Amino acid sequence: MPESKQPKKTSASTSQSEPVHGASDFLVVSNRLPVDRVSNGTDDAGWRRAPGGLVTALAPVMAARDGGWVGWHGAPDETLEPFHHENMDLIPVPLSSDEVELYYEGFSNSTLWPLYHDVIAPPEFHRTWWDSYRLVNRRFAEAAAGAAAKNATVWVQDYQLQLVPSYLRQLRPDLRIGFFNHIPFPPPEIFAQLPWRQPIIDGLLGADLIGFQRPNDTANFLRSARRFLGASVKAQQVHVRADDGRTSHISRAEPFPISIDVGQIQELAARPDIIARSRQIREDMGNPKTILLGVDRLDYTKGITHRLKAYGELLHDGIVKVEDASLIQVASPSRERVESYRHLREEVEGTVGRINGQFDTIENTAVRYLHHSYPVEEMVALYLAADVMLVTALRDGMNLVAKEYVAARGDNTGALVLSEFTGAADQLKQALLVNPHDIDGLKATIVRAINLPKTESSRRMRAMRKQILSHDVQRWSEDFLATLQIDAVRDDS
Ligand code: G6P
Repeated sequence: MPESKQPKKTSASTSQSEPVHGASDFLVVSNRLPVDRVSNGTDDAGWRRAPGGLVTALAPVMAARDGGWVGWHGAPDETLEPFHHENMDLIPVPLSSDEVELYYEGFSNSTLWPLYHDVIAPPEFHRTWWDSYRLVNRRFAEAAAGAAAKNATVWVQDYQLQLVPSYLRQLRPDLRIGFFNHIPFPPPEIFAQLPWRQPIIDGLLGADLIGFQRPNDTANFLRSARRFLGASVKAQQVHVRADDGRTSHISRAEPFPISIDVGQIQELAARPDIIARSRQIREDMGNPKTILLGVDRLDYTKGITHRLKAYGELLHDGIVKVEDASLIQVASPSRERVESYRHLREEVEGTVGRINGQFDTIENTAVRYLHHSYPVEEMVALYLAADVMLVTALRDGMNLVAKEYVAARGDNTGALVLSEFTGAADQLKQALLVNPHDIDGLKATIVRAINLPKTESSRRMRAMRKQILSHDVQRWSEDFLATLQIDAVRDDS
């Protein structure tokens, strides 16, 4: 993959980046830029496209429409000039170390993240975090306002940037603004706790189109808009009023369940070297009858401890033998400076240690725990090696791992155990659905998955693949952008 040249560093201050004025017809704004820095050992050598469906889906739109992407480049206290990479203008937004602590680790990931995920961990409310969130959202909006061409389309992504739509509308009323929330939107009874619930709703309503993962998230948002803002909501539309009481614009909320780059996963799943690697993985695991697999960011929303508890009890009860069924758990490092994530890591690693200490033999290990991130090639080899995929999230906006597993299983084998609290459960109805809080139910479902008759697993997998193959991430982005543009035409007429 070609890498772009290293952009020039300006100063290590937090000052405003100088935006490229008015060049982009289509802009994406997200907390992180879709590139990773590549190092050649001693120095930064350039940038490489980060893995992920969103950037793949949008690459053709970027190339066709003078596209740009506004986001943080991942290093605190560093200001970079905009640069060009693979047909996109990348516009880095600087964050100071303090802002990483207050805006990113604080308000985004210790207030909003737990609040929006059913308060699985207690959210913290701090005014200094809120102040930083506002300031940083303003900076992102200013960078986008400077980079967007006249009448451009701007698509803002996720919970870290919920104030950007309204700031952007104030700065550039000519723009067409979309917003997509990748995580759940909580019911008003929980959202009510947020001291800044009103400005958050106001911020989102700056968008012409607000996309959510599930119909439930959309309904939750519309109920909150009515309850906390007294907004006039008709069907899925909110009439947003200007200060003089007249309708300034109509903001529409709709579900758009996100998906994956199905073509890429299928292609990798058919590659001989990746198939060979999957066989090697099975051999290295001691060729057990069944390989169970979990793949998650190490996050308390993912239900990793529930999964380990169920599997540990099955070993303890003698229902599952370590020689017969081993679990591979990939837990990629995430938000490691946030307290609740540190606790989770200790808990998970303590539990894995106890299970392995009790049930491992010289030849077989109960849980092969991997605290790493892997390239997509290795992930697909793992999907091919796994007979049973365990997705036991306590709450998850979508869960793309479940969709990737299904996309990789070209021969219609394999069983998916899927939490009913994921967005993916709306689409993958033929998975073995579980409530991960019900440990006995989870144990019974894991046993069922291990022993699922071939005809039944194949019937289920075929149906799930039919859904996934016709709903990839390209279709998701086309649907969202078409709705945003069609509405533009409708409003203008
Ligand atoms: C979730 C969020 C994304 C976020 C990702 C990784 O999927 O919806 O917005 O980028 O987690 O988290 P991080 O904090 O490392 O960006």
